[in-house]
Amino acid sequence: MSPPTKPPSKFIPSNRPILGPEEIAAVTKILESGMLTHKSGAGTYALQFEKTFAEFVGVKHAIAVNSGTAALHAALLALDIKPGDEVIAPPFSFIATTNMILLCGAKPVFVDINPENFNLDPDKVKDAITPKTKAILPVHLYGHPTDMDPLLELSQEHDFGIVEDACQAHGAKHRGRQVGAIGDIGCFSLYPSKVITTGEGGLLTTNNDKLAKRLRRIRTHGEIRPYEYVMMGHNYRMPEIEAAIGVEQMKRLPGFLEERNKNAEYLTKHLSDVEGIILPQEAEWATHNWYLYTIRILPPHNRDRILKTLHQAKIGAGVYYEVPLHLTPIYRELFGYKEGMMPVSEQAVKEVLSLPNHPALTEAEIAWIVEQVRQALA
Ligand SMILES: Cc1ncc(COP(=O)(O)O)c(C=O)c1O
Repeated sequence: MSPPTKPPSKFIPSNRPILGPEEIAAVTKILESGMLTHKSGAGTYALQFEKTFAEFVGVKHAIAVNSGTAALHAALLALDIKPGDEVIAPPFSFIATTNMILLCGAKPVFVDINPENFNLDPDKVKDAITPKTKAILPVHLYGHPTDMDPLLELSQEHDFGIVEDACQAHGAKHRGRQVGAIGDIGCFSLYPSKVITTGEGGLLTTNNDKLAKRLRRIRTHGEIRPYEYVMMGHNYRMPEIEAAIGVEQMKRLPGFLEERNKNAEYLTKHLSDVEGIILPQEAEWATHNWYLYTIRILPPHNRDRILKTLHQAKIGAGVYYEVPLHLTPIYRELFGYKEGMMPVSEQAVKEVLSLPNHPALTEAEIAWIVEQVRQALA
């Protein structure tokens, strides 16, 4: 195919939810039934959604909640993270990751990432462990799994928990095992940009019966029977409308992953000879879900200028993230973090640029993206 010369008629978004008549029918059914939620924590559709997701991830339990943020908070509470505790996390993530540690009254301890896959660098984690370390919170950023083996070893040696932030990583695998099935608890987001969506929503996964019980209690005010509250909890229940959408999205998930992978292969094939960029890598032990296809723009190119050029060409490229968490005002103020403390993350925020990759990208759109990136870097 010769390179396309005309811009697409519509802006190409970086990600977009894919919903069809099946989701509309499912929502209509819930509205007609009048059963919008269930006070026990999960209604019929939430239970069905949980069962399908648990089977997909290969875990005993999935627990539906109303956001990825709620999932992270519930996971940390289930591990009894409290004031005085420390939780190790990367600074290159969305703010919800570490704000949930703060919400438990604990201290997020930032450890820098490795430059290959933008995830926690296990070698640096060792140096950050103290007697107060109660958990590690690796983030499978962009959908590439964190190297979990060294973290699992450390957690056994030092007896602390692992909560996987798999909010971007549905379907990603670590040595053949789905993420969310590796640490003590996995947390997923169902926000509209994510691999599957329910509007807002989240899922927790675990193989541990005791933790599953605690998570279900935390989801609904710590209640075990009507008006019998045995622990602190919240209203983190997933409404039935969302769960019904989730049930339909699960049927689409394998196809979504296939399309994302196909797009990523196309981008890699057609951008591999471009100088001045680094393409995303998939470690030999990993299966990327290609939630984000993130390239690095190297000097002397200017990432922000390239971003602007792509936006002008109707390409919704994005920067995730512009500021590492340790340099956001809240963490600077609370813990005295400064420039230079997490050099790999600080470099990454200046160079990363995510290209659109979602299952509805057309051949013409993806060819246009390739051509515009090539021109912008020529
Ligand atoms: C890495 C990461 N963690 C946590 C979250 C929070 O998920 P939610 O937006 O569903 O609360 C997100 C979602 O954007 C995320 O990308």
